[in-house]
Amino acid sequence: MGNDVVDLRTDGACGKSRDRRFVRRVFTASEQNRLAESQYPDACLWAMWAAKEAAYKAVSRIFPDSSAWPGRYEMVFDQPGLPRDCAGTVSTPEGPVRVRLHWDENRVHCLGLIDSAGLWQDLTADVLEPCADAHPEIQPSAKQLSAAARIAAAAAICLHTGLPHGLVSIERTRVSQRSAPPVVKINGIEEKIPVSLSHHGRFAAFAFLAPLQSGSAAMCS
Ligand SMILES: CC(C)(COP(=O)(O)OP(=O)(O)OC[C@H]1O[C@@H](n2cnc3c(N)ncnc32)[C@H](O)[C@@H]1OP(=O)(O)O)[C@@H](O)C(=O)NCCC(=O)NCCS
Repeated sequence: MGNDVVDLRTDGACGKSRDRRFVRRVFTASEQNRLAESQYPDACLWAMWAAKEAAYKAVSRIFPDSSAWPGRYEMVFDQPGLPRDCAGTVSTPEGPVRVRLHWDENRVHCLGLIDSAGLWQDLTADVLEPCADAHPEIQPSAKQLSAAARIAAAAAICLHTGLPHGLVSIERTRVSQRSAPPVVKINGIEEKIPVSLSHHGRFAAFAFLAPLQSGSAAMCS
């Protein structure tokens, strides 16, 4: 399970579909065709990017040595055009990953799930804009966004599982030179709850996979 958010209003995101070198480097021939035909080229580019990243995060959790080369990941949408809510499949070196996307003029958010890893109904996810109320003009730092995503994910897991607040933490270790997926710890002990974090521009996002416990509340989308 993986998730990825892209802030479409950042300088780096706006107009990126016109960067031919980037497009050729990151996207396969069929993805490039899709982009060329799109009515929303920037949103389409970042939707495909987010899908690849979410798929990579889902795959690298199970296969840590899997290739991270973008050309080995290909997004195929289920629908024509780019509906605000759409879905598709990313083919990866380790097999297909199903993805679901939502986008608007501000952001793209993608969730990726390997069929054998769990059910969509057990996936909880949210996108936050931590500084929107207090300082909408200031873009938060990556560190702030990372902390916001962790805190929100931990709080959501507590709510979901019925555990008391403060017992759950989201931590990350490094496997040799490569970055590793975050893990959920309950009272300092690693728990088998797959969790994914993402942050970009103004947004922080999380997703985790856990069946709802009876008596606890569901949340988010
Ligand atoms: C590691 C990687 C997936 C992070 O993605 P990103 O878009 O740069 O950044 P995001 O904000 O979306 O995600 C960052 C979070 O991913 C998580 N992460 C890091 N390594 C990870 C891994 N191997 N697997 C899953 N999640 C990982 C971390 O929790 C991190 O947040 P944190 O630093 O606050 O703990 C990305 O840098 C990478 O190496 N990608 C490989 C290239 C690739 O995606 N190829 C295929 C498709 S293009």
